[in-house]
Amino acid sequence: MPARCNVVVLISGAGSNLQALIDASTSPEAPIQIRAVVSNRADAYGLERARQAGIEAQVLDHTQFADREAFDAALVELVDRFEPDLLVLAGFMRILTERFVTHYRGRLLNIHPSLLPRYTGLRTHQRALDAGDLEHGCSVHFVTEELDGGPVVVQAVVPIHPGDTAETLAQRVHGQEHVIYPLAVSWFAQGRLRLTERGAELDAQPLSATGHVIRS
Ligand code: GAR
Repeated sequence: MPARCNVVVLISGAGSNLQALIDASTSPEAPIQIRAVVSNRADAYGLERARQAGIEAQVLDHTQFADREAFDAALVELVDRFEPDLLVLAGFMRILTERFVTHYRGRLLNIHPSLLPRYTGLRTHQRALDAGDLEHGCSVHFVTEELDGGPVVVQAVVPIHPGDTAETLAQRVHGQEHVIYPLAVSWFAQGRLRLTERGAELDAQPLSATGHVIRS
């Protein structure tokens, strides 16, 4: 059997996406192995999820560093101890330095709760409601220097129903995040997904600006 893809996951909070990845990694045939989970916050519940799954859980508190550069340098040092083939941002609520992003270029994925390029940044569910959108969703993308701007790999589209609130919509989107993140990670681990100078490619075919689209 080919070696499994070493994955390190960065979190800041609840870690439900981390849980979806843990669940997808437990079978002997799974193409990934989660080597470590790192949080910038000691109170992130995702750390507990990691420990319960027997995965090494580490905290690197950003408030203990003079600036963003110093924190990111320490983060690279910590993450690289686990020799990741892939670094996965799963609700890691930090803006990353260019140096960090360049270091992991082509092996750094993020999940964002909107149909990128719409609604980069925060409060995406409320902004989709305020705009009167009929559809919303989530995107997995390669991380580049541009915030929430790297090539999209896969999007899940969900309907917006009359009477939806930011909370009901977030719940619907979250459900799809837990489907598309393990999918994108497994593609990468199987060597099917790559970032080239042409953008994101799946099975050596360029993906469109929306990536692979799943509708529910
Ligand atoms: C997820 O909804 C993810 O899309 C979002 O944080 C949440 C983390 O939830 N990420 C971002 O907004 C990044 N810009 P989780 O901790 O339960 O996985």
